[in-house]
Amino acid sequence: MGCFMAMGASDVIELVEAALAADYTRVRRLAGKIATALSEGEDKDAAKKLRSLIRRSGVPLQASGFVESLPVDSKSRMPLVEEQPWPTSPLFLDENTISVFHCFIEDAKNVDILVENGLSTRLSMLLSGAPGTGKSLLAGHIAKQLGKPLYVVRLDSVISSLLGDTAKNVRRVFEFVPSREAVLFLDEMDAVAKLRDDSQELGELKRVVNTVIQGLDSLDDHAIVIGATNHSQLLDPAIWRRFPYKVEMNVPNAQMRADMWCHFLFKDEDEAKASDVLAAVSKGLTGADIEAIAGAARRRSVLAQRELDVGGIAWAALHSSEGRPQLPPVETLTSGQKIELARRLCGSLALSQADAARVIGVTRQAVRKYLMEGGDGD
Ligand SMILES: Nc1ncnc2c1ncn2[C@@H]1O[C@H](COP(=O)(O)OP(=O)(O)O)[C@@H](O)[C@H]1O
Ligand SMILES: [Mg+2]
Repeated sequence: MGCFMAMGASDVIELVEAALAADYTRVRRLAGKIATALSEGEDKDAAKKLRSLIRRSGVPLQASGFVESLPVDSKSRMPLVEEQPWPTSPLFLDENTISVFHCFIEDAKNVDILVENGLSTRLSMLLSGAPGTGKSLLAGHIAKQLGKPLYVVRLDSVISSLLGDTAKNVRRVFEFVPSREAVLFLDEMDAVAKLRDDSQELGELKRVVNTVIQGLDSLDDHAIVIGATNHSQLLDPAIWRRFPYKVEMNVPNAQMRADMWCHFLFKDEDEAKASDVLAAVSKGLTGADIEAIAGAARRRSVLAQRELDVGGIAWAALHSSEGRPQLPPVETLTSGQKIELARRLCGSLALSQADAARVIGVTRQAVRKYLMEGGDGD
């Protein structure tokens, strides 16, 4: 119990206070602090358990005591807004995105000065990009940086309701949110645009678009809104214009891929060389793809009680990046697969034989032999 002493009674008091006030953001922050104290003491297990509790899915706002005002879909009674925890994993961005991100945080933190000087702008940022490129993660990091709870509205769930109720749902969301100091994250915004495909619902689409616009316009200078869409071209231009900060979330570049492999695979231990090679074979993969392959490889390694099989990871990454998604195989690579991998690494990917050997987990001589056995090479 020594660690509890280190933590201090004031933390416990503050925790109880936050819990009773249904302030889940503060509860999570304090719990994080307690977890750190526990792991600094000797109770690593308890720290782990506590951290996984904190990470657990969003608290439906219903549970946070706002039942009276909680917007729900009138047919399904499903909540239209959910609070989600701040992310605990790092975000890797390209330089361009980092600069917009910093600019946005800076403006949001200093909104009062900007308003005083007549320089305020809507604090609205639109993220567009393929699934798995980190849009939700970025929204979470913005909330975390600003110290505000993250309220997520999935527009597709707002829409899949009785015809005619959608606009009502959108209005409910915007009526509910400005009263709280939060970051409002409008996820899956193309759901609105997709209504267009159904000509019967054209009238409904217009009504919904107008309601979203009215909602955005009704927010005051301090409101922080993040929108996410897979295709910004699908969005109504009038909605698009209402987001002065825009970020295109591309698939990660080579440096970001290396950082991701390093984080997801090697837990940030210095494995620079392997990460660089894996970055080279994973061109075109998203952060979510890399996380999935890395996670699968680590499971294989733990269950088979063997070292990480970097060759199997390279194999999976290479095929996935060519549009044939694969996870690392359960068994280590066959010699046929090793030969193919060696030829690919040293051929089109132009890696050195030494790097190829390291990745496949064989000697350089073996790689040279593979290349010769492989025929005339390419
Ligand atoms: N740029 C990135 N940096 C770090 N992790 C990422 C990145 N992109 C994706 N990921 C990983 O993939 C997961 C899913 O990404 P997510 O934010 O849900 O993507 P999106 O919302 O664009 O579909 C994240 O939780 C994270 O683990
Ligand atoms: Mg998302």
